Amino acid sequence: MAKIVTLTLNPALDKSTEVEKMIPEHKLRCSAIQMDAGGGGINVSKAIHELGGVSVAVFPCGGHNGNVLCGMLQEKGIQIEPLKVNAETRENLAVRERSSNAQYRLTTPGRALEEQDADKCLESIRGLKPEYLVASGSLPPGLPITYYEKVASFAKEINAKFILDTSGEPLLAAADEGLYLLKPNLAELSALAGVSVLEMNQVDDAALDIIKQGKCASVVVSLGAQGALLVTRQGFEHIPAPLVKKQSTVGAGDSMVAGMVWALSEGKTYKQMAQIGVACGSAATINAGTELFHQKDVWRLLNWIEQYGERYRITDFSCSTLSPP
Ligand SMILES: Nc1ncnc2c1ncn2[C@@H]1O[C@H](COP(=O)(O)OP(=O)(O)OP(=O)(O)O)[C@@H](O)[C@H]1O
Ligand SMILES: [Mg+2]
Repeated sequence: MAKIVTLTLNPALDKSTEVEKMIPEHKLRCSAIQMDAGGGGINVSKAIHELGGVSVAVFPCGGHNGNVLCGMLQEKGIQIEPLKVNAETRENLAVRERSSNAQYRLTTPGRALEEQDADKCLESIRGLKPEYLVASGSLPPGLPITYYEKVASFAKEINAKFILDTSGEPLLAAADEGLYLLKPNLAELSALAGVSVLEMNQVDDAALDIIKQGKCASVVVSLGAQGALLVTRQGFEHIPAPLVKKQSTVGAGDSMVAGMVWALSEGKTYKQMAQIGVACGSAATINAGTELFHQKDVWRLLNWIEQYGERYRITDFSCSTLSPP
């Protein structure tokens, strides 16, 4: 029995390199390519491992890239349940321009995944009997945009608490089915609320509405450098993010989700869950490129949040129904 299982339907081999300056038409000398196993759920599994936790990563993989990806995860000691498919696993390329510190992130769509293969991933999850099922990332071409709705309904069937971090139409469809925890950023929350833009003072009401509509049991809205807002039926709590020397926000969302699900699996309260999530997200921004976080940074930042978080807390959200604790 596995407590935490992650599902990555569109995994990737993430490659990164650096050049002094991006100039069109020129031959650009870049640094040696660094490779990482990537894709939302896989990032979550890597981050849980860094926290000292255990999860099983379930994902389709194919071809040479698929083999490299599996090898890299196994080398780190991460438990995997790959489903071999014919289509080569996609690769992404991130290029950092040293002169400006700008990141160019070229993300490929990935090859089509047949729905019956995605269903086989669900069947292997059934065998793992997870208490928490975390799905993160985009859907590959070939799957209907309602596929996460199917995963949400499957999670109910196997009694797993479903946590989803995705965007666009796939997010809206899954929310209609109902799930355990959502971690939208402001843009995703706006889409869930059916409005184009949300002002900061509308965030708590929008999140509470989603809970009242039965779309999920609780919501943690991530607010980038401003931390996160935890909203449950019982109340709301703003968790400020510590000030850090930001290098790259790549993987901040996945790191945050990892921290939250790990905290839940350790029996922490919702407030502690959100605090650990913010600490993990902020710790991830300290590192350059696709690197997630170091455990020691998480505990250092968590300590700051616990000690000084109250001081920097925003309490004047407009929510008419809830009050801060
Ligand atoms: N500039 C920053 N400074 C400190 N912490 C940050 C910063 N940006 C992000 N974080 C941390 O990471 C968490 C998640 O970030 P964000 O709200 O940007 O998520 P996201 O938009 O889902 O990110 P992603 O692009 O990875 O999906 C925040 O709640 C915060 O803890
Ligand atoms: Mg995100």
